[in-house]
Amino acid sequence: MRERILLTGGAGFIGSHTYVEFVEAGYEVWILDNFENASIDVPDRIESLIGEKVHVIHCDLRNVDSIRSVMASGCFDAVVHFAARKSVPESESNPGDYFRSNVIGLVNLVEAMRGANVTNLVFSSSAAVYGAPSTVPISEADPPAPLNAYAETKRVGEDFIRCVARAHPEMRFGVLRYFNPVGAHPSGIIGEAPSQPPGNLVPVLARVASGQLDELLIFGGDYPTKDGTAIRDYIHVMDLARGHVLSLKALLRERTSHVVNLGTGRGYSVLEVLGAYSRAVGHSLRYRIVDRRIGDAAVSFADTRQARRVLGFEAQHGLSEMCRSSWRFYSKEAGVDVAAPKTSDRSLVRPTNCSKVSRIGEKVL
Ligand SMILES: NC(=O)c1ccc[n+]([C@@H]2O[C@H](COP(=O)([O-])OP(=O)(O)OC[C@H]3O[C@@H](n4cnc5c(N)ncnc54)[C@H](O)[C@@H]3O)[C@@H](O)[C@H]2O)c1
Repeated sequence: MRERILLTGGAGFIGSHTYVEFVEAGYEVWILDNFENASIDVPDRIESLIGEKVHVIHCDLRNVDSIRSVMASGCFDAVVHFAARKSVPESESNPGDYFRSNVIGLVNLVEAMRGANVTNLVFSSSAAVYGAPSTVPISEADPPAPLNAYAETKRVGEDFIRCVARAHPEMRFGVLRYFNPVGAHPSGIIGEAPSQPPGNLVPVLARVASGQLDELLIFGGDYPTKDGTAIRDYIHVMDLARGHVLSLKALLRERTSHVVNLGTGRGYSVLEVLGAYSRAVGHSLRYRIVDRRIGDAAVSFADTRQARRVLGFEAQHGLSEMCRSSWRFYSKEAGVDVAAPKTSDRSLVRPTNCSKVSRIGEKVL
């Protein structure tokens, strides 16, 4: 019989892609979601991809009785926990909501799992727990130093998990610290389609490319990097999804908990991502460099050795595939005619000599 896995937040961006990977790896998968940041048609889209019925449970993890009864009746072998809120600015203005969803939701889930004797959990953490690191690559041994309420909820979540693992050694946890997940399933059927306005670079680029936003605001053009813009480690969502399957397999095989970074180990500047996205779209994209945001690191990328050693994980997709797949999904969603780019001038698509970009000004890349 297939092992049965519950994905909390499974209708969201990373959860929906992970659903497909788990099905392909031979698991029976169930989604639990309250659909506060996912479209109600995501299960149908997954169904059209995998050609089999998608199991969905409408449930809010803040409701302790609901999650208790789901766990008690579900016969799950393991849980992958994505469900959380993820907007940094929103977390700063409304920390109560974030601690309720991300921390209390996790506590309710883990207690319900214990009540039902479900002992394996893969947890979505974030590179945000590292804050603004002074050295790169960032290793799992580096101390957490969260800089905002969202990152605090992830750090507290990890602390809680550590305490539970100490108190109840039968419980095993795979804590995955994601760097910057981007891209979409190669079919273009599922992708990142939040109900709430996006704050991350690639979804914003998609909206600029489709004309829904006028321009990309780049926060900071005077960082000590090759082109002055901040450098991040972007990971294709399909690689990330595979990382969850490997994490669960490692938990079941090794019977010990782990904490690993999931990234590529390579950083790209904002201007490099903008250039790659412009090439995927086939035309230039408008941007403006404005002041830095408080708390943003200049450079952040993962030390990937632990992921390789513990999970056998290595990212396979590069930046251009991340951008191409994102645009394939988003252009379909937005009804953009991809065959007719706004400009045929390919020279505009090439990244400019980034060091010449003025700190505040407007250019078309
Ligand atoms: N996307 C990123 O850039 C990123 C980076 C690092 C970590 N993460 C973490 O990965 C996880 C998944 O992120 P994502 O990008 O897929 O986000 P997402 O918003 O697309 O997915 C989260 C899903 O959880 C659901 N949800 C939220 N609160 C819930 C609740 N109380 N009960 C039930 N369902 C609830 C939402 O409806 C949504 O479908 C989150 O924990 C996030 O913090 C994301």
